[in-house]
Amino acid sequence: MARSREIVVKSPEQLEGCRRAGQAAADVLRVMCEAVRPGVSTKWLDDFAARTMAAMGCRSADFGYCGYPAQTCISVNEAVIHGVPREDVVLKDGDVVSVDITVECGGFVGDNARTVIVGDAPPEVRALVENTERALAAGIAAARAGNRVGDISHAVEVVANASRLGIVREYVGHGCGIDMHEAPEIPNYGPSHRGPLLQEGMVLCIEPMLTLGSRRIRVLEDGWTVVTCDGKPAAHAEQMVAVTRGDPEILTPR
Ligand code: MF3
Ligand code: CO
Ligand code: CO
Repeated sequence: MARSREIVVKSPEQLEGCRRAGQAAADVLRVMCEAVRPGVSTKWLDDFAARTMAAMGCRSADFGYCGYPAQTCISVNEAVIHGVPREDVVLKDGDVVSVDITVECGGFVGDNARTVIVGDAPPEVRALVENTERALAAGIAAARAGNRVGDISHAVEVVANASRLGIVREYVGHGCGIDMHEAPEIPNYGPSHRGPLLQEGMVLCIEPMLTLGSRRIRVLEDGWTVVTCDGKPAAHAEQMVAVTRGDPEILTPR
C-alpha cells in the first residue's frame, strides 16, 4: 500500500484530533468485543459496528479503502487479518476472533485491534492470545523519543520468539492519524537501533500478527482475508500511540 515516505510529526491540534479518533476506535472495539458470542455471524458484528460508529458520530475508515467491502475486519481462527465479515461465518465456542476497528472521526483516523476467544480454548491458544498482547506491550514500551523504529520491531520479536510463535512478515505496523497508513512501516521483527528515529509527536500503530504454527500466510479468493497456510490459529493486537518525551501516550486505551 502506498505510504508517504515522510513521517508526520503531529502538531498539538493534530494530536488532539488523533486522541479523539483513537478514543472512538477504542470505544467501538470494546463494544464489538463484548458482542462476540456463540451464534453471531461476523456479518452481524460488522453491521453492529456500523450502527455503533454512526451513533458515535464517526464512520468506518475501512469501507472503500482500496475497495475494501466492509466496515471492519474480523478474522476468525486461521484468519490473521483483513477478515471480510460474512453471513456464513458464525462464531462458536473456542473460536479465536481478531477484531480490527479503524474509524474516521472529525477528519482524523483511529486504528486498533484485539483478539478474543469465544468461551474457552486450549491452553496453547490462550497463550497465543496472551503473548500477542505481551508482544504489543513490549513494542509500545520501546516507542520512545530517541529510540528507533527497529527498537519497537525488536521488542515485539523478542516476546514472539520467547513464546515460540510465528511472526507474520508481509504486513506491518504504520504511522497513522491523518491517513490510515502513514510512514513509517513498523515490522514485527528485526534488529534494534536501526530505522527512522522516533520523535515526540509521531503517531504510530504497533500491531503484532502472530501464529501458533508456521508464519506462512496466503490471501483468500475474496482478495482480502489473510489466513495461515497451515490452518493453525493466529492472533492480532494493535494499539495507536503517540510518542512523547516520556512514556508513550496510548491513544486507543483498552
Ligand atoms: N486496520 C488495518 C490496519 O491495522 C487496515 C484495514 S485494511 C482495510 O492497518 F482494507 F480494511 F481498510
Ligand atoms: Co488496524
Ligand atoms: Co493498523
